[in-house]
Amino acid sequence: MMDATAPLPADARRLTVDLGQRRYDIVIADGLIARAGTLLRPLLAGRRAIVIADETVAGYYLDPLTGALTEAGIDTASLTVPPGEASKSLAAFGDLMERVLALAPERSTTLVALGGGVVGDLAGFAAATALRGLAFVQIPTTLLAQVDSAVGGKTGINSRYGKNLIGAFHQPRAVLADIATLATLPPRQMRAGYAEIVKYGVLGDPGFFDWLVDHGAALLAGDGALCAEAVARSCAAKAAIVAADEREAGRRALLNLGHTFAHAFEAESGYGDRLLHGEAVAIGMAAALRLSVRLGLCPAADADRLTAHLSAVGLPTGLAGVADDDWTAERLVAHMARDKKVADGRATFILARGIGHAFVTRDVPMDAVAATLREALAA
Ligand code: NAD
Ligand code: GLY
Repeated sequence: MMDATAPLPADARRLTVDLGQRRYDIVIADGLIARAGTLLRPLLAGRRAIVIADETVAGYYLDPLTGALTEAGIDTASLTVPPGEASKSLAAFGDLMERVLALAPERSTTLVALGGGVVGDLAGFAAATALRGLAFVQIPTTLLAQVDSAVGGKTGINSRYGKNLIGAFHQPRAVLADIATLATLPPRQMRAGYAEIVKYGVLGDPGFFDWLVDHGAALLAGDGALCAEAVARSCAAKAAIVAADEREAGRRALLNLGHTFAHAFEAESGYGDRLLHGEAVAIGMAAALRLSVRLGLCPAADADRLTAHLSAVGLPTGLAGVADDDWTAERLVAHMARDKKVADGRATFILARGIGHAFVTRDVPMDAVAATLREALAA
């Protein structure tokens, strides 16, 4: 745990992911990178850190971070990887591991992931496997990473057979979400992260969804206080779910709302810039609620409210602008059948009885899924 007396900005928020002896703090505030040395020093047994960042993020934040760590007496090295999903390939992971090992880390060395979900997943998996397990810290710099990927210990890389198929649960020692880093994040990446925030409202917190309807546009326009509030509420929701079900035996699957659809869209689009993960999640959530309506589980008005809000903030809710002519419902269903969450040949879906009332089920007729996909392809 972080030193509870460590100096924090007055408006900082501190949450705990309560995993017993592996519990850790999430700190959310402006300016945490500059304070990272004093905040992290009590956690770093060996006073040695290796920071891993992508080249874009390194250009903005690597020197301030290594400066802050060095100033606090931490012996700091750094490694960079190219930005983008390709850095989560097995080959890129192998290359990174050799570079980590060339720095002769000891068991007490800590890896620090500075960046978005790509770097967090990659550096986290490097930490899980180097010397059979090193400590690591997440310093997420995208909205998506601050509200989702940096918290909860899912780390991993991609295989030619699919995304995140090689990985480990490996919890960080701390998460420092420096809200100020969002100032340099491109608007499209902000919106993609915002989709994961909406997810928390839709899965279990109708009051938070209402709050987002009122404040989402201002948040996306860069209001730091609103960003901090939304990150904190999202992390609190995720921390509670992870503490109750770390290994996704049950309730944690709620965090995959929209993802069975989204993973099929991403697989079909080739995991490039054409469709960002958060954009796929937005379309997937809209589809999940449409499917819930189709099955007589959810009022149509709730699905309409979700779609209206996602559209109002500039997120896609259908595939019309994304899909090529050769995309079909059948091909998308085939991707779902290969998803790693398939059990006994049946895909897992998160459906909802309304906004804020999601549940997990494998009992979904695939003809209803295909009909929902045909609707999404036309929308
Ligand atoms: P990303 O890490 O690729 O970052 C998006 C882009 O923004 C990159 O080009 C990056 O260089 C740039 N960037 C990052 N921070 C910036 C900043 N502050 N200013 C300017 N540019 C910045 O993408 P992402 O959306 O953060 O993460 C997506 C990844 O996260 C996927 O690989 C997905 O599988 C993974 N993910 C993991 C989990 C989990 O629980 N582990 C959850 C959701 C998603
Ligand atoms: N992003 C889903 C999870 O962490 O379980």
